[in-house]
Amino acid sequence: MKLDDLTIERIRSSVEIIDVISGYVQLKKSGDNYSALCPFHNERTPSFMVSESKQIFKCFGCGVGGDVFQFIMQIEGLSFPEAVKYLAERNGISIPAAGTRVAGEGGGREVRATLMALMKEANQFFQNSFHEEGGRRARAYLRERQIQKETLQSFGIGYAPSGNRLFQHLTRLGFRTKDLETAGLVARGLSDYYDKFRNRVTFPICDILGRTIAFGGRILGEGQPKYLNSPETPLYQKGNNLYALSLSRDEIRRRDFALLVEGYFDAVVPYQFGFRNVVASLGTSLTRGQIQLLGRYTRKVIVNFDPDSAGTAAAIRSIELFLEQGFHVKVVQLPGGEDPDSFLLRNGAQAYEERLKQSEPYLDFILSRLIEQQKDPFSPVGKQEIVTGIVPYLLKVPNRIERAEYVSRIANRLQIEEGLMFLEMRRHKPGRLQEQIHLEKASTREISLRPAETYLLTALLHTNFKEDLVDLLEPELFQELESESIILKVIELRKRGHKISVLKLREGLKAEYQDLLDRLSLSSSMSFSVDLVESSLQALREIQDQRRIRQAQIKIKEIQEEI
Ligand code: UTP
Ligand code: MN
Repeated sequence: MKLDDLTIERIRSSVEIIDVISGYVQLKKSGDNYSALCPFHNERTPSFMVSESKQIFKCFGCGVGGDVFQFIMQIEGLSFPEAVKYLAERNGISIPAAGTRVAGEGGGREVRATLMALMKEANQFFQNSFHEEGGRRARAYLRERQIQKETLQSFGIGYAPSGNRLFQHLTRLGFRTKDLETAGLVARGLSDYYDKFRNRVTFPICDILGRTIAFGGRILGEGQPKYLNSPETPLYQKGNNLYALSLSRDEIRRRDFALLVEGYFDAVVPYQFGFRNVVASLGTSLTRGQIQLLGRYTRKVIVNFDPDSAGTAAAIRSIELFLEQGFHVKVVQLPGGEDPDSFLLRNGAQAYEERLKQSEPYLDFILSRLIEQQKDPFSPVGKQEIVTGIVPYLLKVPNRIERAEYVSRIANRLQIEEGLMFLEMRRHKPGRLQEQIHLEKASTREISLRPAETYLLTALLHTNFKEDLVDLLEPELFQELESESIILKVIELRKRGHKISVLKLREGLKAEYQDLLDRLSLSSSMSFSVDLVESSLQALREIQDQRRIRQAQIKIKEIQEEI
């Protein structure tokens, strides 16, 4: 497949951004544009705008913005070429076949494609293997665990027979041993290759588009190791995937929260019981990559890990990572050492729903754990340690009122004065705050335009007379002003006979200028008046005169000092 500029442009021009985005959010017409609640951050009043005429989107709340490709990249977690292909496929646009590489994916593309095809076949093979020798036991095992047929199909659960069956099957289909090895499906034994997944129930691990990229395999009944997982491969990076997300993402977005569990069955069983916003971390240590991925769909999560100590430790670690990325976190711990799978089978959906409703805000959860860890939590030393432990988490509560509320609850529970807690918080605070301010500065530089610049730029983006307007602009008028780089670009486009469009203008500009353009082009359209244009130009002339006078004065001063 070949992705050249022409192809990209062809796809861009044949998809309608309004159609694409309305597949994800509810757009409402608002003036010339459409607005919605931003899918990339949590908000109550819409600050997410889409412009039909300009084919761009912009959130004035969290700052994301761009064209239709950028929207798909962010919301689906895809790379640029993947987003292009995604849109092409969904809109029935063919991409010219050629041996050429896809831009941005590097030389691994062909290997990836082969591995993808191979994993697809392997998955098919496992799913067809229930009738093989041993398959009956696998079916009996799944029946015993109360997994229904539709669930097996939804998740693509299968069975890996014993012996070398997969190796033989895939080799017969023409796949090379080397690729089977890279995919983590076979290993070299003393004399020959052997299947890694043997006599196990198989769970395909999929990417966000539902393509199989790895497997987990559970032994039938007792035995070690209980689960086998694919190694990391060119297709599969453990830290960048969440199990079941391709199935649950729509529901996660719809309900605006995700249920995070640990294991395969802990995802499969809740899904079967109607909790279709479930994802599993697979194993215990959640990564930033996984949280970022989830963050594309929601900023709220209920963590339901095993209540054992490893599960609790994992829950606490994951909370920190979630908070770093602005998530609202609640925690459920099921009684009697049960995981979601066993709890649901024993108590049913309604009981589980109740548990979810009663999930604790993470601060209460951490406080309870800190209290549990203390031998004597109500001794002065005990209290001090608990307060020290909880303060870093308290400081991460972004809302001040909510934070004060917590302080008073915690103080109450520990029977200490609130003032003591605030003191402890202040001791922690300065470093952190500075860090935050620093970050904010680094990420966005606010560009401040003079009114004249704002008017002219907005007019250039909105009116029907923009080409005529450009002819009135002289580069000298914008010297050393914030809008200079954009204006130069406008003039250059005009010289080369191009139309003035936001998309064209954005190209090659620094992020803060792109941002500015997005804002201006989505601001309410304005009336064009020759008088306003003229007075803006006059204002700029005066600004430039002032500037020249200031420069002359500096020069004179320098000369005087030299003398
Ligand atoms: P658990 O030991 O809690 O198992 O491991 P489970 O999910 O409840 O499994 P069942 O119900 O006995 O079948 C939680 C998760 O940790 C990973 C798996 O992803 C598992 O689902 N794990 C566990 C492994 O990768 N290997 C193992 O040997 C055990
Ligand atoms: Mn279990």
